[in-house]
Amino acid sequence: MFRAPTAPPRNAPTQKTPPQKTSTLKAPTLKALALFGLALLASPTLAWGQSAPASDKDQFLEECSACHLAFPANFLPMESWEVIMANLSDHFGEDASLSSDAMTAIEGYLIKHSARSKSRAFRGFDLATAPPLRITDLRWFKHEHDHEVSRAAKKRAGSMSNCQACHKAADRGYFDDD
Ligand code: HEC
Ligand code: HEC
Repeated sequence: MFRAPTAPPRNAPTQKTPPQKTSTLKAPTLKALALFGLALLASPTLAWGQSAPASDKDQFLEECSACHLAFPANFLPMESWEVIMANLSDHFGEDASLSSDAMTAIEGYLIKHSARSKSRAFRGFDLATAPPLRITDLRWFKHEHDHEVSRAAKKRAGSMSNCQACHKAADRGYFDDD
């Protein structure tokens, strides 16, 4: 049977990370709070009306789902993500440019969760010079979809890149539902 290049992401991509514990309070304020026995309040920064900085994952989900599903990082190797992220101003005919901070954060997230470069899913590609830029170009993808997908379903989806048209839980990382 078919096996995805790596296990499907277990963590639901929509899951929120807890607020970070980095306190933005200045030391004297903390001391004052301790005096009043309120030191406990110092841990959740949110208690002070400030939101925690968006995590790399949140930035990825926000920016990379603006036009399509935020494709799970583990469908492509790091070499692919590097080239994709380096060419966002000319991204499949669209301008998907980001600030350099967002780019660094998102690229870091994608690389950290990328597929193993040695996976046989990428055999046939020279990763150093021409890594795959599409999941839909991978051999397993074609194999899995060429005969299973009716012409009508394909037409409805518009593009095979439109995973959610057929995989209702794609945004949670599940593709084996239908
Ligand atoms: C301004 C719109 C836009 C944004 C923002 C955007 N993309 Fe895309 N992306 C596209 C379009 C258009 C395609 C081509 C879809 C098609 O062929 O049907 C695409 C395709 C892709 C593909 C190939 C899908 C496949 O297998 O066919 C990947 C991978 C991808 N984008 C990653 C990203 C990442 C990572 C980000 C965030 C940094 C991002 N995209 C943000 C418009 C966008
Ligand atoms: C036009 C409908 C359609 C589109 C679009 C589509 N798929 Fe599929 N996909 C299917 C069908 C049908 C199957 C085979 C039945 C099954 O196993 O779910 C399948 C199978 C799969 C499988 C194997 C599931 C398993 O465990 O056997 C994966 C992984 C997958 N698709 C990922 C994707 C991704 C990622 C995208 C977008 C880049 C995508 N699909 C786009 C219809 C579609």
